[in-house]
Amino acid sequence: MLSLETKRTIIAVLSFFLLAALLIVGYIEGKRHIPGSKPAIAISDGNKKCVECHSQQSNASTAVAQWKESEHAIKGVGCIECHGADEDDIDAFSHYQSTIATIVSPKDCSRCHKQEFAEFQRSHHAQAGKILGSLDNVLAEVVEGSTMMHGNAVATSGCKQCHGSIVEFVRDEDGNVMKDRNGIVMIDPETWPNTGIGRLNPDGSLGSCAACHNRHYFSVAQAREPDDCGKCHLGPDHPQYEIYRESKHGINFIAHKDEMNLDAKPWIVGKDYISAPTCATCHMSATPNQPVTHDVGERISWTLRPPISEKVDAPDIKAGRETMPWEERRQNMQDVCFQCHTKQYVQSFYKQYDDVVNLYNDKYGIPTTAIMKKLKAEGMITADVAFDDEIEWIYFYLWHHEGRRARMGASMMGPDYTQWHGMYEVAERFYVEFVPEVKHLISEARAHGNAGGAARVQALLDETLSSEMHKWYLGRMSPEEKAARDKAKAEFDKRYAGD
Ligand code: HEC
Ligand code: HEC
Ligand code: HEC
Ligand code: HEC
Ligand code: HEC
Ligand code: HEC
Ligand code: HEC
Ligand code: HEC
Repeated sequence: MLSLETKRTIIAVLSFFLLAALLIVGYIEGKRHIPGSKPAIAISDGNKKCVECHSQQSNASTAVAQWKESEHAIKGVGCIECHGADEDDIDAFSHYQSTIATIVSPKDCSRCHKQEFAEFQRSHHAQAGKILGSLDNVLAEVVEGSTMMHGNAVATSGCKQCHGSIVEFVRDEDGNVMKDRNGIVMIDPETWPNTGIGRLNPDGSLGSCAACHNRHYFSVAQAREPDDCGKCHLGPDHPQYEIYRESKHGINFIAHKDEMNLDAKPWIVGKDYISAPTCATCHMSATPNQPVTHDVGERISWTLRPPISEKVDAPDIKAGRETMPWEERRQNMQDVCFQCHTKQYVQSFYKQYDDVVNLYNDKYGIPTTAIMKKLKAEGMITADVAFDDEIEWIYFYLWHHEGRRARMGASMMGPDYTQWHGMYEVAERFYVEFVPEVKHLISEARAHGNAGGAARVQALLDETLSSEMHKWYLGRMSPEEKAARDKAKAEFDKRYAGD
């Protein structure tokens, strides 16, 4: 019989060995990377307390859980590497013996990702916060909402969530940044939360890397998904996401998603995947001949945004700035296409695309813009207040919604956006609303003693409508064109009459 004393000792010794064995196994599991298993994560001493405490906070414990799944955790990049701040940073605060900031700007990421930072800063994306004062900003701040009351609500929760806010802080009367009772710096709620693509950060850097790299996974696979760009690139005025979903590229992506190898590093089109391109493939990712770029403008040749499209390098050339010529950008994109298509296929596609852009410009963009300018110059609509005249809304729909949709549909193989959501609506807007409204303004001007203005606008309208592409509307189609149409109609009728 063993004494109670001895039994206790044996249990204690056994427990010790069991514990030691568990610890050793745990340590090995943690350190050794078994192929196919998850790699170990590294938590430095500086980060231990952040991780421990924050994983117990019901608020934002997900930050830790997601971070633990990230490439950063494997490489030992912890909370403090991103949130750490210098004491004299405007948003720095002392937090459990560490000096940190809540905002993590592209400049913070640039300590380790210099190249991505440099490319992103020079891109159009980084400039997207500077829309204040643009035509559509009048819409958000004056027409739809108000800057005078309710926190500029439309711009704050609308425009700026995509374009970016100017991050500001709550300040006392002396202009000092205020802290809450836990010592946390108070960020102005009109300006944050915000991950707009062109956010203006307190340290002067532009944008937010988290616009595409959702925290705290910061995963490349997620950024390669079309949905990633789809937060912003959708809707009536820039439906790239919907266009992509309509296109065969989008169809094949959905059908073959499990063959897309989305978390491969590197991820080279034609080598690591062949089924379909995503937004990232065409605009950012590597090809056998090109590295990844964080400047999404390096592969596009037209800008499809303004009332009249021009080549993307035109504004730089006008301003005398050095720039990548549009031909080179187009070659960069075609190099992506060539990984899956032949030369003839790709070049013929570009011919189809250019034709739509040029048609929209020549038939609608250029003449409507000229007429709008003339109406203002002749005092027939107000020149200094936007959106108070009906024709301004008509014109805005024509270029900003429908005209963009047509051009964008053609650029990314979405025929429904080119036709029914696009040129059909442009034409209806032009013939059924724009032209009658111009006529109405002409008769108003005549009735109110502006006969000169009325005559000059009438002349411009006549010139537009009697031009080659519009004269059908006046019943003046050329005899050849008329004969060809009649012949086509007769053949159509015959085919569908069933004999
Ligand atoms: C002892 C617990 C504890 C420790 C240690 C700790 N935190 Fe926190 N942290 C909190 C609490 C509590 C909050 C406030 C949560 C809330 O208001 O919902 C917070 C808030 C934050 C915020 C958000 C502030 C904001 O603007 O809302 C950040 C970022 C943050 N912590 C990062 C860190 C980092 C980095 C470390 C390590 C250097 C760290 N924390 C260590 C408890 C802790
Ligand atoms: C790779 C950089 C990076 C790392 C590593 C990182 N963060 Fe963050 N964190 C961010 C970014 C970016 C934001 C968004 C802030 C902004 O808008 O600028 C953020 C926001 C936060 C917030 C506020 C967000 C919310 O939803 O309430 C908390 C809290 C936070 N981080 C805690 C942590 C903790 C704890 C860790 C470590 C486990 C950590 N972070 C690691 C980049 C990082
Ligand atoms: C202290 C250095 C450091 C900081 C700061 C940092 N990173 Fe990283 N990041 C790394 C390292 C190391 C890797 C591992 C891959 C590599 O070597 O490039 C990585 C990888 C990544 C990846 C690829 C992840 C994957 O799935 O392969 C992304 C995306 C990324 N970082 C984004 C960011 C963003 C955005 C920020 C700022 C919010 C940031 N990083 C801040 C060091 C850092
Ligand atoms: C859903 C996200 C989103 C919202 C909300 C949004 N935009 Fe945009 N905006 C975009 C995208 C994406 C583009 C670029 C479209 C493209 O390149 O085809 C853009 C383009 C623009 C442009 C053209 C910039 C240029 O370089 O030509 C202006 C100006 C603009 N937006 C202003 C605004 C204003 C003002 C508001 C609010 C009334 C607003 N946007 C709301 C996403 C958004
Ligand atoms: C417009 C969306 C977008 C923004 C904004 C963005 N990235 Fe990326 N990033 C991506 C995509 C997509 C990839 C994957 C590219 C590929 O296919 O390999 C990527 C890849 C990366 C990688 C992996 C290495 C590489 O270059 O392939 C790092 C690191 C990275 N980004 C850092 C950043 C940093 C830092 C910022 C902010 C300065 C940033 N990114 C902003 C979309 C974005
Ligand atoms: C947070 C919102 C947002 C996200 C996410 C976003 N974009 Fe954009 N993008 C914009 C805005 C806004 C513009 C217009 C910028 C301007 O001209 O002021 C734009 C412009 C562009 C342009 C035109 C660039 C040029 O030089 O004219 C391309 C191409 C583009 N984005 C591709 C992408 C791709 C691909 C992704 C995903 C990997 C993406 N964007 C993710 C908001 C976003
Ligand atoms: C098959 C390749 C391909 C895919 C996939 C693709 N694009 Fe494009 N994208 C293009 C081409 C080609 C153009 C026109 C380029 C030119 O003008 O030379 C373009 C133009 C654009 C523009 C510029 C519009 C402007 O205002 O000037 C934006 C923004 C854009 N794409 C975003 C996206 C987004 C977001 C996705 C995914 C939802 C996407 N693209 C998917 C090839 C692609
Ligand atoms: C990763 C491979 C891949 C890349 C890269 C790619 N495509 Fe495609 N593309 C496809 C596949 C697959 C189809 C569907 C073929 C079919 O019609 O069955 C397709 C279809 C098309 C179509 C026919 C659309 C239709 O509705 O019939 C056009 C046009 C096209 N691609 C042009 C381009 C252009 C231009 C680029 C570059 C900007 C490009 N593709 C890049 C794989 C790719």
